[in-house]
Amino acid sequence: MRILAIESSCDETAAAVYGDEGLLSNVISSQEIHREYGGVVPELASRAHDALISEIVRKALDRSQLSLRDIDAIAVTQGPGLMGALLVGLCFAKGLSVQTGKPLLGINHIDAHMYANFIEQKPEFPFLSLVVSGGHTQLTLVTKPFEHRLLGKTRDDAAGEAFDKTGKILGLPYPAGPEMDRLAATGNIHSVRFPRAMLKDGLDFSFSGLKTAVLYHVRDAAGEDKEEFLRAHRADLCASISDAITDVLITKLERAAITHKVSHLLISGGVSANSMLRAKAKDLAAKRGWNIYIPSPKYCTDNAGMIAVTGYMKARAGLFDGLEIKPFTRYKS
Ligand code: KG4
Ligand code: ZN
Repeated sequence: MRILAIESSCDETAAAVYGDEGLLSNVISSQEIHREYGGVVPELASRAHDALISEIVRKALDRSQLSLRDIDAIAVTQGPGLMGALLVGLCFAKGLSVQTGKPLLGINHIDAHMYANFIEQKPEFPFLSLVVSGGHTQLTLVTKPFEHRLLGKTRDDAAGEAFDKTGKILGLPYPAGPEMDRLAATGNIHSVRFPRAMLKDGLDFSFSGLKTAVLYHVRDAAGEDKEEFLRAHRADLCASISDAITDVLITKLERAAITHKVSHLLISGGVSANSMLRAKAKDLAAKRGWNIYIPSPKYCTDNAGMIAVTGYMKARAGLFDGLEIKPFTRYKS
């Protein structure tokens, strides 16, 4: 079984091939154009996908040393994501499906982040999944492949947005997560105690209050020269913000695992590349004797390898789709 996968939900145009042997190729092109706007511009994303997609798919096939004839099915991100961006990938995949007669596999991008953990390892079911990406923060109980029960989600900003928005206040370029991670390593987590919202209740998350707390802290502490203040305190603030976000994520993960009596835990999504989160997850696993899986950083952020492995698992379960599949912008299970 060999799956060609296409991902175009946001600002990464990506394609990959996954087969019985594992991941055979994984090609990604990140659209730099959005940086100057401080966020993803949907129309520019669609156009860039359109310009890049055929070359990226060609490269993925070439690097896998396979041709379209060797492929058994075409997996494509169906949502959630930007409508125009998703349409480019979906239309391209449908065209390939018509041309080759190979079936389609419509893939949920958020679920694919979770299944990215299967690229390098083979986690056991049932497991608990924490997906932390730029648009989603979700805790899910997974009893068997594609049997998901949503336990908690964010009520406002996602964890990735919390990094990006607070980073913006500190003058970091979009997306601020990776730079915040680097700077936090040299800062002091105890410099400021930022709020940990909803830490004591339930399994939902809330991160919008943190953004306001950081905004007020900088306004009140900076005085006349904000630039000078940020230069002197940026690393400490990054460390304290990262500590607040990762404390909440780890506390909720631990609570969910205890409540639902699960000892296999999967963390994924762009924010799971974060070093502080990875270190705290490791400590939690050691403290409780649990198995915690996190993909290598290159499979945490958006990529088509995760779409390909999810497609492979769907194909193995016989869950093929037809040409009628439509894109969706918001998460649906
Ligand atoms: O999963 P992803 O690549 O795309 C979405 O599906 O949203 O996640 C992107 C998010 C961005 O908010 C980015 O700032 C964040 O992941 N991110 C990080 C790190 N690397 C990426 N956040 C914290 N630390 C990182 N090392
Ligand atoms: Zn993503």
